Amino acid sequence: MTARRNALRLGVNIDHVATIRNARGGDFPDPVRAAILAAEAGADGITAHLREDRRHITDGDIDRLMAEIDLPLNLEMAATEEMLAIALAHRPHAACIVPEKREERTTEGGLDAAGQFETLRPFVDRLGAAGIRVSLFIEPGTAQVNAASRLGVPVVEFHTGRYAHAAGEEQVLELKRISDCAALAAKNGIEPHAGHGLTFANVAPVAAIPQLAELNIGHFLIGEAIFTGLGDSVRRMREAMDAAR
Ligand code: PXP
Repeated sequence: MTARRNALRLGVNIDHVATIRNARGGDFPDPVRAAILAAEAGADGITAHLREDRRHITDGDIDRLMAEIDLPLNLEMAATEEMLAIALAHRPHAACIVPEKREERTTEGGLDAAGQFETLRPFVDRLGAAGIRVSLFIEPGTAQVNAASRLGVPVVEFHTGRYAHAAGEEQVLELKRISDCAALAAKNGIEPHAGHGLTFANVAPVAAIPQLAELNIGHFLIGEAIFTGLGDSVRRMREAMDAAR
């Protein structure tokens, strides 16, 4: 994301506004309105995942997000020809390549950048050639960071799901993996981001990792918005991130 208003940027993922809308069809609640509110509350970017089955964000949402919001759009996408064509047609600021399985409830693990090196290479190259900032959503592991480095991506996003769901000693170990891999990525000239499962309760230790440049957060912010409003949940997350730095 280009707007460096904050040292640690907050990308707000608005997918689940669309999940609620789609539960009834129609156009309420509108994810573009959520994106505008998030921007006003201190988000540095908007993230949206156009899934193959269009279960939340739709093609029309991407059209409108590109046309109607001022913040950079980070398009999460699977490495498929269909999604590549959509990304190339829209040229969002960034594209984060994620693994996608139809039966999963959410993105359940990182990409295997090492194992799928040859499959990913043409997607990385074609997105990059179009001027889109390419990111790979990977588990924090040395082999994955090294593969990302060989693929020449400018950004990796570390999947924080294991950290978020762990407790005690195990969570300390998961945090160390993220921290070590953020340092390795930065050493290799890759900008590290992180996201998945982050909440007010667990964001601080991740936000304190000095190499991380961006966190992408969705489900918790939209859930919390039910109780206190979206502007409030984004503002409080922003404050928690700033306080941790
Ligand atoms: N980053 C990526 C690449 C994701 O796929 C997701 C989930 O859609 C997120 C961040 C945000 O995760 P959560 O909704 O759990 O905050």
